[in-house]
This record gives sequence, C-alpha cells and structure tokens, in this order.
Amino acid sequence: MSKPKILVTRRWPESCESRLRESFDVVFNTDDHPMSRDELKAALRDYDAVLPTVTDTLDADVLGVEPLRCKILGNFGVGFNHIDIEAARRRGITVTNTPDVLTDCTADIAMLLMLEVARRGGEGEREVRSGRWAGWRPTHMLGTKVTGKTLGLVGFGRIARAMAKKAHFGFDMPVIFYDPFPPPQDLIDALGAEQCGTLEEVLERADFVALHCPGSKENRHLINTERLARMKPHAYLINTARGDVVDSEALIDALRNRRIRGAGLDVYEGEPRLNPGFLEFDNVVLFPHLGSATEETRVAMGMRVIDNIAAFFEGRPPRDKVA
Ligand code: DGY
Repeated sequence: MSKPKILVTRRWPESCESRLRESFDVVFNTDDHPMSRDELKAALRDYDAVLPTVTDTLDADVLGVEPLRCKILGNFGVGFNHIDIEAARRRGITVTNTPDVLTDCTADIAMLLMLEVARRGGEGEREVRSGRWAGWRPTHMLGTKVTGKTLGLVGFGRIARAMAKKAHFGFDMPVIFYDPFPPPQDLIDALGAEQCGTLEEVLERADFVALHCPGSKENRHLINTERLARMKPHAYLINTARGDVVDSEALIDALRNRRIRGAGLDVYEGEPRLNPGFLEFDNVVLFPHLGSATEETRVAMGMRVIDNIAAFFEGRPPRDKVA
C-alpha cells in the first residue's frame, strides 16, 4: 500500500521532519513562508493529511474546497481557534492537537512576563544597552514586588494550573481563578487555589491577572474596557493565551490613562502585526509568541502530531482528537 501523502505547512525541528520522511510521502514548505488561503485549499485537495499551525487559517471557506482529499488535520499546537471545528466535522475531517507537552514551557513564559514587567527587566536592559545607565541609586527603576501578591487566573486549564503551581509554591502567591468549567475540587486544593464565582471578582482582587482561556468566538474581547476598569490601578495584565481575548484598543487606552500598571504580552490580535500603540509604553513587555518555543517542547509537539496521524492511518483512534 502506498504511504499517505502529507503536507507540513511550516518547517519543523529536524528530528521530527526525519521521522515524517520515514513513515510518509511528505512535502515540506521549504522556505517556511506563511501559507496563503489558495495554498491551503490546494493542500486540502491534494494531500491525505495537512499538518497546520496557528499561522494557517482553516475557516469554513478554505475547508469547503472541492474535491477534498484531506482526511486529517494534525495541528502543531494545543490551541485550534484557527480551525473551524464545526466545518471540519461537516467535511468529515479529523482534527488533532498537542496538549500536555507545552504546558510547562508556556506557563514559564507567563511567569517570565509577570516578573519582567513587574521588575522592569525590559526597561532595565534597554537602559544598559543604550549606555544610559548612570549607576546604582536608591530610587533607580523601582518595580513591584511579586512574591506574596495575588495571582488571578482567567481559565484554569493545564497551563493555568502549571502557572498556579509555580506562583503559589515558588513565589508564595495566593492564587484565585475563574473558570466556567473548573477541575475537581481536590485538584484545586492541591494547588492551594481559590475558585471565584465570577470573572469580575478575579479582576477586582488580583495584583496580576493572567489569561489562560482558549481563543474562541465567545472569548473574543473578553477583556474589554469595562473589565479592564475592574482591575486595580496597580495591577498587571499577562496574556499568553490568544491575542483577540483582549481588545487591544481598550488595553492601550487603559495603559495610556494609567488605569492599570502594565502588561506582559506574548500574543496579539492579527499577529504578527502589532497595534503600534503598544510601542509607546515602557511598562509593556512584548514577546513574539514564545509560549512553547523551546527545543524540547517543539520536538515533543512534532512527535505528538506524528503519533496522532500515525494512529489515524493505522486505523486506531488518535490520542488527541478534537474533532
Ligand atoms: C499553541 O500551541 O496553541 C501555540 O500558541 C501555538 O499555536
């Protein structure tokens, strides 16, 4: 029997590409460009499996292509808001993702953003590199202490829980959270976390608000002008989830009017484009979607995609089926 024909939309770590070559008739996007809608449509017409990432928009129009050859989308990433899951179901396309393997690294980036913005690490580095540093003095670049402050989590899935563990046990932080679908109470207790009845309560009580909810139609602009106004004026907002969970204009307005103290962002609405408003603030830390960006994690993600599609083509249920 001939090997399934696979298209990988972006370059992967070498060890993962080698494993793909062994098992499949695979084509890579050699120059690693973000694929256009037409290229994605052609891929769905010509390949048995397409392995996309967050940079590929697979909406109902793209998934509506005729004739359709693709039977499985093995997404390289845990978030799948760039794929219209209902449309995939209608077309009979299986969709898988890569949970678990990126949990800790993404929580690390949330911790790093929190520490960097509170302790003014980015500003400090810019000062040193530009030669403007005039030496130690008691009032120089004073930030906010992190240890002991309250961390408020919006969403309490795997990544939020990993952040809760690091913050609570490593930094003595009381952790509060809101999640409409909370995990069992023993899991909450083991992390020393407190469940809040509303998102507003988290926003009102936290010194650091970290977003860990999925990107979705429902969560688009979940953090808007009204909700930003609920935050304490000395609180910080951390986003490693999806850019459009935050209304960026509302956030820029809140920062401009000092209604919150600062923000640490890893994801953006319409990324890699950035609302230029963010560039005016020293109290905003901007990372280029680094959540899962470690060698170990990206290899683990690739291997997890391969496990999923291998299972599918061998007639076994893929471990991480989301549709
Ligand atoms: C994820 O895994 O969801 C990352 O944000 C990249 O898509």
